[in-house]
Amino acid sequence: MRGGPEPGVAEWARLGELRERFLGGTAGGADYWIDRRTLELYDRFFAARIGWKWDAVLQELKSRRFRPGGGPLLDWGCGTGIASRCFMRAFPQAGGVVVLHDRSDEAMRFAEERLAGCAGGVPDGIRRARVLDPEAVAPETTVLLSHVLSELDDRLLDGIVDGLLRRAGAFVWVEPGTYAESRRLIAARGRLMDAFYVAGPCPHQETCGLCAEGRERHWCHSFARPPVEAFTDPVWAGFSKQLGIDLRALPYTYLAMCRDKPRPDTPPEKTGTPARLLGRVRETPGGLGVLSCEATGVHEREIRVREAKRLAKALKKGGGGPYFHWKLREGRIVGGGTDADP
Ligand SMILES: C[S@@+](CC[C@H](N)C(=O)[O-])C[C@H]1O[C@@H](n2cnc3c(N)ncnc32)[C@H](O)[C@@H]1O
Repeated sequence: MRGGPEPGVAEWARLGELRERFLGGTAGGADYWIDRRTLELYDRFFAARIGWKWDAVLQELKSRRFRPGGGPLLDWGCGTGIASRCFMRAFPQAGGVVVLHDRSDEAMRFAEERLAGCAGGVPDGIRRARVLDPEAVAPETTVLLSHVLSELDDRLLDGIVDGLLRRAGAFVWVEPGTYAESRRLIAARGRLMDAFYVAGPCPHQETCGLCAEGRERHWCHSFARPPVEAFTDPVWAGFSKQLGIDLRALPYTYLAMCRDKPRPDTPPEKTGTPARLLGRVRETPGGLGVLSCEATGVHEREIRVREAKRLAKALKKGGGGPYFHWKLREGRIVGGGTDADP
């Protein structure tokens, strides 16, 4: 098993403590990568789950024809480097050097080792940068940020958004799908809209519909699907039991922006209203209720089974999406399909 032997009682406890720090918002205070085993444990479990979210996001971005800029890849707050590993797997021809940045030397070394060991490696090489000068960031750089928001105070966040990201060519930022993280990413989106296009999750380039009056209680989030091994590997069952984590729930929120115009929002052959589902589909007495992000805002829409049987059935099964093109009648969804449908 990658990541050393199966954890013992004390190691499960160490993972539990790490998790407390992340959930309690105290992880930003000091470096918690106390030794290599902590990095191994994190990588085996927490980073693996984060990787499943990255896989979902990158799959989505590929379907939106997002392409990295061809320049350096910068993994900010890289930890064990799961974001750059997933990215290099999804975009093996991305090109450019991979720059790993973290306040922890130990973490950067670990991330470099794991990244170098990936299939295909990194043809243009890997660099470690504990100190980063945002002004030196090349305009074709793609920046990756993953699960760092809860460790950033407002000053650091301002530096990342206005100093670093504003100089980059593109960025992909993945966070846990909580209300707080989603709202902070929405604010970052608003600040960068003058310089970037949105590649995802929004199916439009307008102001975020969740900023509108009446939408304050909602947030932008989705659910990734864990691979089968999460339910068949006894070590994952142990992880779930020891830490009280439901392996089925993998909520994430993300933001991807690029300087170059992405593809048209909906394939030209598609008709209907481009939309992306937010959160879970709800069952209602007559069918389904969805929160639909569209260019005109975020709408709570109804799908009546008798009006859109096939679509309702697919959505109930969790199939398709998250991008759709709706056929609307009197505000209800009466047909349509995913962008991937023939
Ligand atoms: C929760 S971990 C996430 C690691 C990795 N990005 C992932 O998704 O698994 C947060 C990382 O941010 C790093 N970090 C926190 N504050 C930082 C700062 N001010 N500068 C650089 N790295 C920082 C931590 O050392 C840690 O590796």
